[in-house]
Amino acid sequence: MSKAIENYTRITTLTLSEMKAKGEKIAMLTAYDYTMAGIVDKAGIDVILVGDSASNVMAGHETTLPITLDQMIYHAASVVRGVERALVVVDLPFGTYQADSKEALRSAIRIMKEAGAHAVKLEGGSQIQDYIERILQAGIPVMGHLGLTPQSIYKFGTYTVRAKEEAEAEQLIHDAQMLEKAGCFGIVLEKIPAKLAEKVAQMVNIPIIGIGAGAQVDGQVLVLNDMLGMNKEFSPRFLRRYLNLDEEISKAVKSYTTDVKKQDFPNHKEQY
Ligand code: KIV
Repeated sequence: MSKAIENYTRITTLTLSEMKAKGEKIAMLTAYDYTMAGIVDKAGIDVILVGDSASNVMAGHETTLPITLDQMIYHAASVVRGVERALVVVDLPFGTYQADSKEALRSAIRIMKEAGAHAVKLEGGSQIQDYIERILQAGIPVMGHLGLTPQSIYKFGTYTVRAKEEAEAEQLIHDAQMLEKAGCFGIVLEKIPAKLAEKVAQMVNIPIIGIGAGAQVDGQVLVLNDMLGMNKEFSPRFLRRYLNLDEEISKAVKSYTTDVKKQDFPNHKEQY
C-alpha cells in the first residue's frame, strides 16, 4: 500500500476534497456484493460505487433502467458490510428521484438508512437541481453524474461520446458549476471529450471523476467486472482490462468438472 493510502484510515467526502487540493488522484471502482467489496477495499481503493450498472452486470439487463430501489439497497447493504476504509457511494436508480423532490429525498434516505451508505449519486444537471438540493439539505452527501448518463439512454439513442457539440458542452459546464454551487462533493463525467473534462476539472473545486473522460481529471472510475475482464463483449476504448477473469474462471470450472467426472475430486485428504 502506498504512503498516500496509509495516511487515510477512513475515506470521507472531506478526504476526497483534500486529495483534489493536493493533486492526489482518486481511484474509484464499482462493487455489488460483500466478497468483492471486501477485496477491493483491502486493496486500497478510495471510493466504491454501488452503481446501477448492477442492472447490467449482475442481473443481465440490457440497460440500467429496470433495477429497483429495493435491489439497489440489497447490493449496497452487502457492499457496506464488506468495507472498512472506502467511501461507499450508491446510485439512486431510474424512477426513484425524477418525479419530485420529496420522492428523491425519500429514496436517498432509504439508501442511507437501510444500506448504511455514505453518499448517493444522481444522474443529471439543471433538470434535477431542486431534488439534489433537497437531498443535500437533509445532510446526505450527493455526487453528480454528467455526460453520458445511462439512465437517459432512450433519449440519447446511442452510447457514443456526449458533449462533442458546443451547445451540449456549454450546458455540461453550466451543470457542473451548478452541482458544485448546490453542494455536491464530486461529479462523475462519463464519455465526453478529454479536453472538456479537463476544463471542467479546472473550473470547479470539487473532485471530477472520469470514465472515458481522459487523464486530466481528479480520479477515474471503472466497472469492476469490466476491468477484471469478465465480459469480452464489452470493449469501449476507455476500458483497460487488468485481468482476463472470464478465461481464468472458465479454466477453473472446466478443471473442477473434469476432476468430479473422473472421481479425482474429492481425494482422501479432502474428506472426513
Ligand atoms: O452505474 C455505474 O456503474 C456508473 C459508473 C459507470 C460511473 O454509474
